[in-house]
Amino acid sequence: MMESLRSSPALLLACLFLVFLSVSSLGINYGQIADNLPSPENVVPLVKSIGASRIKLYDADPKVLKAFANTGVEFIVSLGNEYLAKMKDPSNAQSWVKKNVQAYLPATKITCIAVGNEVLTFNDTTLTDNLLPAMQSVHTALVNLKLDKQVTVTTAHSLAILQTSYPPSAGAFRKDLVDCVTQIVDFHCKTASPFLINAYPYFAYKGNPKQVSLDFVLFQPNSGIVDPESNLHYDNMLFAQIDAVHSALASVGYKNVCVQISETGWPSKGDADEAGATPENARKYNCNLMKLIGQKKGTPMRPNSDLNIFVFALFNENQKPGPGSERNYGLFKPDGSQAYPLGVPAVTLSSNSSSTSGSGSGTDAKPSASLPPASSSSGYLAITSDSGRSLSRCKSLLLYLVAVISLLLHHLQC
Ligand SMILES: *[C@@H]1O[C@H](CO)[C@@H](O)[C@H](O)[C@H]1NC(C)=O
Ligand SMILES: *[C@@H]1O[C@H](CO)[C@@H](O)[C@H](O)[C@H]1NC(C)=O
Repeated sequence: MMESLRSSPALLLACLFLVFLSVSSLGINYGQIADNLPSPENVVPLVKSIGASRIKLYDADPKVLKAFANTGVEFIVSLGNEYLAKMKDPSNAQSWVKKNVQAYLPATKITCIAVGNEVLTFNDTTLTDNLLPAMQSVHTALVNLKLDKQVTVTTAHSLAILQTSYPPSAGAFRKDLVDCVTQIVDFHCKTASPFLINAYPYFAYKGNPKQVSLDFVLFQPNSGIVDPESNLHYDNMLFAQIDAVHSALASVGYKNVCVQISETGWPSKGDADEAGATPENARKYNCNLMKLIGQKKGTPMRPNSDLNIFVFALFNENQKPGPGSERNYGLFKPDGSQAYPLGVPAVTLSSNSSSTSGSGSGTDAKPSASLPPASSSSGYLAITSDSGRSLSRCKSLLLYLVAVISLLLHHLQC
């Protein structure tokens, strides 16, 4: 099939279009709690190699924001929880936005600011009370700087803000958080910003490996579950978790909030008591997930909405505290090699990890940075190994596009 693609311009066009469609919404978290990561310039080809078009940072690292200028990659930058008290003051918020956001626009496409991470589940009243005022100050700063149409303000929640997540139709927020979450969601509606949630089926599996089906959490073929209330069929836990969030939002009166998954992932290694943390499971989770994102599938409750998902994470982070798994969520090792086969061509980083100016042609990083889209596409298709379903879907979409484009070409000639 690939051979015939090369021989026909229309097919090639269709293929390029398909590539654009299929990889346009993959996001990746770029955490940097490590002392051995490559320079941001060297990270650009890695991000491109997996077809990610969005990056979430846990800060607003100037080196990263500069390195990704003019790459077209979209950014969520973050304000850590330690900033919340300070950001309540509108003048502090304004100077932060000027220095960390405005200064990089438009070359670096910063589209969103995440104020705080998993604030509500720290159960710290002061921190919780500061969250919405900080988000409001930052938004006001954007309005004053006339950036509010291109940059939105949000915060990322832990899935633990839910009291009930199963079955998905019964999704509900923790009672003590309902008021606070409702005010935040109201802010999202007024400012057209997304609701972000970090969701890890891995935690559910690790907590209960004997009861939870590994195939169900890893997006492998399985019989799934039927939600007795909605009758919707779920064949993976992540979709069930996302729809539980949709239900919780609907239960407080918000049916049309844009929900994005700001983190999800699977560790390739963990401590002896961390069930399931293996390279093979991590490969299945992340490759199956990237394939789903590429198919533009929605969840059973929102079949027509794109999955807006940021995989956690780009790198293994050797200085993260906590259990062993915390340091092993990366798709890549710090040397740029894949932590396990990702189904896309590998990238060889420049041996010199300190930053190199990209002016010369023929540096080591160059060939991978300019990988032709077609090869990363076939890499993506190659992830499909378990069933022919998605491949045949791709084929029919491809044929459809070919038909449309041939028609267009005909029209042009007439
Ligand atoms: C926060 O409070 C909830 C509900 O009271 C509790 O279930 C949870 O374990 C607490 N979390 C932490 C980190 O203390
Ligand atoms: C890496 O680059 C830096 C600065 O460009 C240079 O000083 C250093 O010698 C280089 N190291 C290697 C191993 O090439």
